[in-house]
Amino acid sequence: MAWHLPINRVWATVPPHFMPSEDDILNALKAVKYPGYSRDIVSFGIVKNVAVANGAVSVSIQLTSANAEVAQQLKSDCQDVLKAIDGVRVAHVQVQQPPGGDQAQPGAPTPGQGPQKAPGIQRVVAVASGKGGVGKSTVSANLSCALAKRGANIGLLDCDIYGPSIPLMMGVNERPAVTEGDEKLVPLQSHGVKLMSMGFLLQDDQPVIWRGPMIMKTIQQFVMQVDWGELDYLLVDLPPGTGDAQLSLCQTVPLDGGVIVTTPQEASLGVVRKGIEMFRKVNVPILGIVENMSYFTAPGGERVEIFGHGGGQDEAARQGVPFLGEMPLFTEIRKGGDDGMPVVVSQPDSLPAEVFHQIAVQLQDQLVVSAG
Ligand SMILES: Nc1ncnc2c1ncn2[C@@H]1O[C@H](COP(=O)(O)OP(=O)(O)O)[C@@H](O)[C@H]1O
Ligand SMILES: [Mg+2]
Repeated sequence: MAWHLPINRVWATVPPHFMPSEDDILNALKAVKYPGYSRDIVSFGIVKNVAVANGAVSVSIQLTSANAEVAQQLKSDCQDVLKAIDGVRVAHVQVQQPPGGDQAQPGAPTPGQGPQKAPGIQRVVAVASGKGGVGKSTVSANLSCALAKRGANIGLLDCDIYGPSIPLMMGVNERPAVTEGDEKLVPLQSHGVKLMSMGFLLQDDQPVIWRGPMIMKTIQQFVMQVDWGELDYLLVDLPPGTGDAQLSLCQTVPLDGGVIVTTPQEASLGVVRKGIEMFRKVNVPILGIVENMSYFTAPGGERVEIFGHGGGQDEAARQGVPFLGEMPLFTEIRKGGDDGMPVVVSQPDSLPAEVFHQIAVQLQDQLVVSAG
């Protein structure tokens, strides 16, 4: 009996013209490096709105820098790469930038926008999370120590008024001194990091019952009325949550960027999206997402994904924001927090310390990119 080849189906797999998909476009754009960096623009999370139809591609690039040269260079590099893709006839690249043109200095405050910049502090970065217990303070404390070890002048401001855990995690809890004359609070120091926390100002364990405006005022003073000196970075550990209270805090403090800490599970529930929305509402560039408690390695070496897998990375890709890294569950991390010696300090050669350093480097890269 004659065997019949389903001709139609064979032809269907070989279309007459190759049509690139949005993923093909994104893949190709990975060849474009951010001017002056070894990292590509896709992993930096600045490629937005890729559309492709009938051989016409349109891509928009969102810059937080107002530098016109960077914009021009990126536009032409992207066009070159896009036009080289099979099946692309026309490529339209739109680069979106904040106003300011060539004159804008990196990190300079935009007139009439946001709170006053703190003198001497180069970059203020907020660390946020959807709820408590996801490891926001752990990440803040270890990133601060990692940045200090990398030679940065760093301050850590614990704004978690209701549950300040930085004094415990960094192993200091004293009443700060006050400077003569201008009466500024002198930050405490631990592991090379300058620290200020509500915990230092409270009597024992008395609960804090504060009205919103009082909290704002105190936090504003924590940035402006603390004798921070010259800092490359001030990390701000925000209270957990991404609601109105946190949003107002973001408006109180002159922020240069925001980091969101999540567990894989929280990310999959859309909590990260709320954090992103919060920062966007106040025009704070999102420096990236850190996924904490990503997995646990059992004594036999088996990888156990307690809270699911890859939520943070998937959500970062969906939202077009950078993914800074994933931190597994390690007993040493919890122990370091309880002993006042972050794992980056207590076990500098351990795997968790190495991962925190990697995240710190990614964060520094993002800060440079967001400032242009
Ligand atoms: N990756 C991790 N591995 C092990 N324990 C962790 C990890 N991240 C956080 N923890 C522990 O979980 C608890 C909550 O972390 P914490 O940083 O205080 O969370 P948050 O500031 O978000 O409330 C702490 O006891 C901390 O030591
Ligand atoms: Mg905390």
